[in-house]
Amino acid sequence: MSIEAHQDWLNKQSRVSLMHGPTPLEPLDRLSEELGGPRIWLKRDDCTGLATGGNKTRKLEFLMAQAIEQGADTVVTYGAVQSNHARQTAAACAKLGLACHLLLSERVDWPHENYTRQGNVLLDKLFGGQLHICSLNDVAATRETLLQQFADADRSVFEIPAGGSSPRGALGYSRCLQELATQCETQNIAPDMIVHASASAGTQAGLVFGRSLLDIDSHILGINVFHPDPQTLKDRVAFIVNGMFDTWSEIRALRPLQIDVNHAYFGDAYGIPTKACIDAINIAAQFEGVLFDPVYSGKALAALIDQINLGNLSHLSDVVLLHTGGSASLGAYADAFDD
Ligand SMILES: Cc1ncc(COP(=O)(O)O)c(C=O)c1O
Repeated sequence: MSIEAHQDWLNKQSRVSLMHGPTPLEPLDRLSEELGGPRIWLKRDDCTGLATGGNKTRKLEFLMAQAIEQGADTVVTYGAVQSNHARQTAAACAKLGLACHLLLSERVDWPHENYTRQGNVLLDKLFGGQLHICSLNDVAATRETLLQQFADADRSVFEIPAGGSSPRGALGYSRCLQELATQCETQNIAPDMIVHASASAGTQAGLVFGRSLLDIDSHILGINVFHPDPQTLKDRVAFIVNGMFDTWSEIRALRPLQIDVNHAYFGDAYGIPTKACIDAINIAAQFEGVLFDPVYSGKALAALIDQINLGNLSHLSDVVLLHTGGSASLGAYADAFDD
């Protein structure tokens, strides 16, 4: 499928406009020189514009269109307490005039006051999101109670899965790959690799789906930041991609799916920053003036830096780091930066 045919097909899917785009593709020349490996290009999806930006904006463009088509007046979504997806969903709801309920689970053992007051929590509230915070074990029961309350009040609810990671949400990253392919053509580069943080799997699923349709050779590598067992992430990516082919049965893959995950930068647990991640955040800030986050994009950057330092990428000329955002949580993790 040509880029144009893919674009025409995507343009037929319902989408609301929420983002600034195309997001820039910028070389990180000072960092590349310091590391001495391939030239690093940063795809700036931290600059999507909505509510300080991030990867959820692209997914929400497709998901919120469906909410509106279904006549929803209330959106319910899920995530960890410092969920970037929750923050962007709250902002999208504010922009579109929908009520927003955020069911946030206490799944991260980061016992600092900033975690529950600052960062995404503060912004969720500013955007008018209603927060329902509960333990991980209580999520199902809290959801049931909430949905029953809405049914009793005759509210029309649209549920969005954690991370916006459904086949429809993942279309946002098929669209991103197409945008990136056009930028690479214009800048005359053919990146050997696209690296990004992967968690609820919708970003990677959209990229893998797009790559199977378009004539793009870049190797896509998801850095697992969420699943204690990386096979769960691979299975989840495959599940969403297969769901995309089921939903849009007119689309056929041109080549086999390739799902690659690196688990070496996960650390102790989801939401717990590693030392390499904190170092990477400091390096990017001081060499490039760019902010990364301690849960997602910082771990992806740490992975890329380490792989270059190990010499594993020395045969490559250009790599793209997809910046998925997340810096809104930096204040919530201020304690991670104490010396
Ligand atoms: C900043 C950031 N980067 C990366 C990801 C991972 O994206 P996905 O959940 O689509 O795998 C997330 C998900 O929450 C995120 O907030």
